[in-house]
Amino acid sequence: MNSKTAELIEKDRRQLHPVYHPKSHAGALVIERGEGVWLYTTDGQKILDGMAGLWNVDVGYGREELARAAYEQMKTMSYTSNFSGMTNVPSTLLADKLAGYAYPGLNTTFFASGGSEANDSAFKTVRYYWKRKGQPGKVKIIARRGAYHGITLASTFATGIARYHTMFGPPMPEFVHIPAPYPYRYEGDLRPGETVGQAAARALEEAILREGPETVGAFIAEPVMGVGGVIVPPPDYFPQVRAICDKYQVLFIADEVITGFGRTGEMFGLRHWNVKPDILTFAKGITSGYQPLGGMQISDEIRETVESAAEGEAWMHGYTYSGHATACAVALKNLEIIEAEKLVERARLMGQRLLDGLKKLEEFPFVGEVRGLGLICGVEIVTDKESRQPDPALAARIFKEAQARGLRSRPLGNTLAFSPPLIINEAEVDEIVQRLGAAMDAMRV
Ligand SMILES: Cc1ncc(COP(=O)(O)O)c(C=O)c1O
Repeated sequence: MNSKTAELIEKDRRQLHPVYHPKSHAGALVIERGEGVWLYTTDGQKILDGMAGLWNVDVGYGREELARAAYEQMKTMSYTSNFSGMTNVPSTLLADKLAGYAYPGLNTTFFASGGSEANDSAFKTVRYYWKRKGQPGKVKIIARRGAYHGITLASTFATGIARYHTMFGPPMPEFVHIPAPYPYRYEGDLRPGETVGQAAARALEEAILREGPETVGAFIAEPVMGVGGVIVPPPDYFPQVRAICDKYQVLFIADEVITGFGRTGEMFGLRHWNVKPDILTFAKGITSGYQPLGGMQISDEIRETVESAAEGEAWMHGYTYSGHATACAVALKNLEIIEAEKLVERARLMGQRLLDGLKKLEEFPFVGEVRGLGLICGVEIVTDKESRQPDPALAARIFKEAQARGLRSRPLGNTLAFSPPLIINEAEVDEIVQRLGAAMDAMRV
C-alpha cells in the first residue's frame, strides 16, 4: 500500500459505511478514477468493474456529456423546491419523457433520491390509495424471500433477507414473505406436475387468502432478483402473478430499481413477460449513478385517486430533493445516451456473450448454476453439484482472488453477481470470464 492510500484509509475511519462491519471494510479499495468499465485505485490497480458500481453505472465512467449536463444545470438553476406550487424545467421534461415510457398507462412520476425512498413512497401510496377507496384495512404488503427493496425502515422489512433484519427487529408485521420463483432451489411446496412458476404464483394466492384479501394492499417484486442472488423467474410466473393480483384487488409494485432502463436487455424487466405493474419503482440506471435519483410511476387509476381527493386528504408525501433539477437534467442526458447508443440492445447481446462465457465455468465442480438475463448474471457456488449445498466461504475466496486479478464482482451469499456497465465491449466481457476462470483455477491448488 502506498503512503497516499494509507493516509486516506486512516481518514476513512471517520466514516460509517453502508452495511458496515470492520471485518467487511478491512482492505477497502480506494477508488480515484473511472473510465468506461474500468476503475483505478490510489494504489495503481486497474479493475474491471463487473458490477457497474452497484448495478447502476450503465453508461460507464467518465462521461463528459453527463458532467456537462450537470454543470450547465447547476449554473442555470441548481435546485429549487418541487413541493406543491412550484416546479422546475428538468423535472417537468423528465416526467413528460417518462410518461408511458415503461408501460402504457403509467403516465405519472414522483421523484425521490434513490430506490429505498422510491419503495417507501410506493408503500405509502398503497395505503393512501386503499384509504381513499374506502378499504383502509388493505395495509399488508406481500414480498418474496430473498428480495431486496432497500434500507428505510419499511423497505428493510419488505426485504426478504434475514441478515438485514437481525439487529433492527422486531419486524414490521405488515410485511409478509413468500418463496421466490427460484428454480435451482425452490423453497416452497412443489406439487407433482407443477412448474416452479406455478408453485411460486400459487404461494402468492395462498398468502393473500391466508392473510385475507381485505388486509392485503400490494405485492412487490423485482423482475429479476438482484441482491437475493440474481434469480431469473421462469416465464410462466409473472403472468400468473398479475392475474392473481387482479383477482384479489391487490396492487402490483414492480421494483425495477436494478432492472429499469435496459439492464436485462429490455428497457424494463417485466416487459420480458408482457406484464404491466400498477406502480413501478426505479433509481440507479436512470442517471447511471451520476446523480442520486429514484422515484415511482403510478397508474392512471392511482393518479386519478390522488387527483380527486378533498384537500384534507391530500397526498402529504415528498422529499426536499424530489424532482431535483440537476439530477433530472443528468437523467435526461443519460436516457439520451442509452437510446442513442442502443444500450438496451447491447445489454442483450453482451449479456448473452457473458452468460455463454460464464456457463463454461460450470465445468468447475463447485459451480452449481450460472444464470442471467441481459447484463445481470449470477454464478452460484456450492460444495458439490450433487448436494447443491451453498458454499458462501468459497464464493468469498473466489471473489477475493478475482479482485486480486483486477475483476470486481459481488459475493451475495454463495452467488457471485455480475452486472457490468452496458457499454461493455466483447473483449471486456471475455476478460470477465477469463479472470473469473483464473480465480476459480486458483481454488484447485
Ligand atoms: C431492487 C432494489 N430495490 C431497491 C434498492 C434500494 O435502492 P437505494 O440503495 O438507492 O436506496 C436496491 C438497491 O440495491 C435494489 O437493488
